[in-house]
Amino acid sequence: MCGIIGYCGQKPGAAIVIEALKRLEYRGYDSAGIASLCDGRLLIKKDAGKLEEVVHKQGLAELPGNVTVGHTRWATHGAVTQANAHPHSDCTGRIAVVHNGIIENNQELRRELTGLGHRFTSDTDTEVIAHLLEDELKNGRALEQVVLSIVPRLEGSYAFLAASLDDPGKIVGTRKNNPLVVGIDSPNYYISSDALAFSTYTNKVMTLDDNEVVVLSPGRIEFLDARGSKTVKQVKQLDHSWAENSRGIYPHFMLKEIMEQADVLGQTIQQDQKTFNRIALDILRARQVIITACGSSRYAALVGRYLFSKVGKRFCDVVMASEFGYFADSVDKGTVVVAVSQSGETADVVEGVKAAKAAEAQVISIVNRPNSILADMSDHVIYLNCGPEIAVAATKSFLSQLAIFYLLSYAMVSSFDEAASSLIGLCGETTRVLDWNKSELIRLSETLKDSSDFYYLARGINFAIASEGALKLKEISYIHAEGMPAGELKHGTLALIEPGTPVVVICPADYTFSETLSNAIEAKSRGAYIIGVSDKESDVYDSWIRIPRVEELLYPMVAVVPLQLLAYYLAISRGCDPDKPRNLAKSVTVK
Ligand code: AGP
Ligand code: GLU
Repeated sequence: MCGIIGYCGQKPGAAIVIEALKRLEYRGYDSAGIASLCDGRLLIKKDAGKLEEVVHKQGLAELPGNVTVGHTRWATHGAVTQANAHPHSDCTGRIAVVHNGIIENNQELRRELTGLGHRFTSDTDTEVIAHLLEDELKNGRALEQVVLSIVPRLEGSYAFLAASLDDPGKIVGTRKNNPLVVGIDSPNYYISSDALAFSTYTNKVMTLDDNEVVVLSPGRIEFLDARGSKTVKQVKQLDHSWAENSRGIYPHFMLKEIMEQADVLGQTIQQDQKTFNRIALDILRARQVIITACGSSRYAALVGRYLFSKVGKRFCDVVMASEFGYFADSVDKGTVVVAVSQSGETADVVEGVKAAKAAEAQVISIVNRPNSILADMSDHVIYLNCGPEIAVAATKSFLSQLAIFYLLSYAMVSSFDEAASSLIGLCGETTRVLDWNKSELIRLSETLKDSSDFYYLARGINFAIASEGALKLKEISYIHAEGMPAGELKHGTLALIEPGTPVVVICPADYTFSETLSNAIEAKSRGAYIIGVSDKESDVYDSWIRIPRVEELLYPMVAVVPLQLLAYYLAISRGCDPDKPRNLAKSVTVK
């Protein structure tokens, strides 16, 4: 979580860094701050609050200097306070550090450093880095050498940037398990958790490997490996679509991302058939296949599992990435691990893939962000091609993931083309389903905004859509919600249904229709308010969300879209910001 940015060049740094922080805010938004080196002074301004508030309150834009680092925080250690906001400094106020991740042995290091006379001013894990650097910098060494010497002492995951008055005119960055990418526009250099931060200035990027160190100064860039030897890096070109970061006509990114799904689907389908056929063959030949992912990506994987079985007759398991390590004993050379992650940087997924690679499994990843950690680690990468997704709640990337699983499963039976044309036919349906239901969804959000609990039911391939619908609602409207297989309701959860409890039933006119409807009737008999998501009307529904009739295996794709919009409108009705839900961040780069 959190976004870090550094700028080193010939322009005033503060404006560039603030602009970058705006683009990074999706990664964390509880505090923000900037540090700048100027005329022998290190100036730091920071505070708790959203970026815009901090910029105004603290006058961030006024900081002079052209060696500048910035941070937007998602707290892991220490409350959301001004003192805990980054950048952090040492006892002398001569070092600035911005950090993404967790230093797991921070307590131990803090005790040791306090014993040596260091004074801490925050409760963060990050501050130990500044004090460790302070001790080493006293000996007059170059900042990069000092960074290299302290890094072995840090346990956990991190990407951090450091700047110091004792070796001014440069920013030094390093990473382990957390992202860091350099933007090149010589003599100006940028370094950030996400290339989106500087994509308006340059599309030339260089990525850092774990434990590598990069040194940026105006007109000069140098990469060092963990032993301090220089390394040669390749410049990569960033697709220009990744510079796009505006809400357009929409009040929120989430709404924009929901609305653009028809176009997105068209882009996602543009895949290389040969690559898909090859990957499909690997999946079919593997001794076992495990899909791993978190959150929405895991729900897409659950639909994928169903498609693999139904179309490719290939049974596989889906293991939650945070639990993957506990199953690693069963992973071997004959295993194909499919890792699904929009960001490509979710720590739990990266960790699971590391374990899989250590066991010599073949790794196929399905990611959206280019140059991500996960993509770099994988044997094959499938890109979603859905462009940057900024809202914390996944919408368009979820739909793209479903499309990829659909294509992959049909590639297993040599029918990629057939699947691609079915998906093309679906583009218009995703728009139609929104048009049909907009006013009913707005009405529902007003009627149900004070409900404390929602239940989402479905069967078969649609079960994961029930869970995804519930997750969307929880994340952005803070209403408790549960998604479950409809048949499971009577095994316990039915006890919670009271008069008026909203129950969303995904009930397409397919082989699950009658049984799902029976489960809806069971809930209705206990007073539930039934919202039927279906292509077939029924008296059982108190509200009907109409979806188009589509091929059986495509219902998840048309059913999920109105559920995203329902969550969005409920968040708005309750006065919540759907783009920046409390306690959450888009990229979960900590375990
Ligand atoms: C989705 O709405 C959530 N924000 C979250 O569950 C997300 O899907 C999860 O953190 C996984 O992210 P990833 O796809 O980037 O790995
Ligand atoms: N662990 C650090 C903190 O709590 C950084 C968190 C982050 O990645 O935003 O401040």
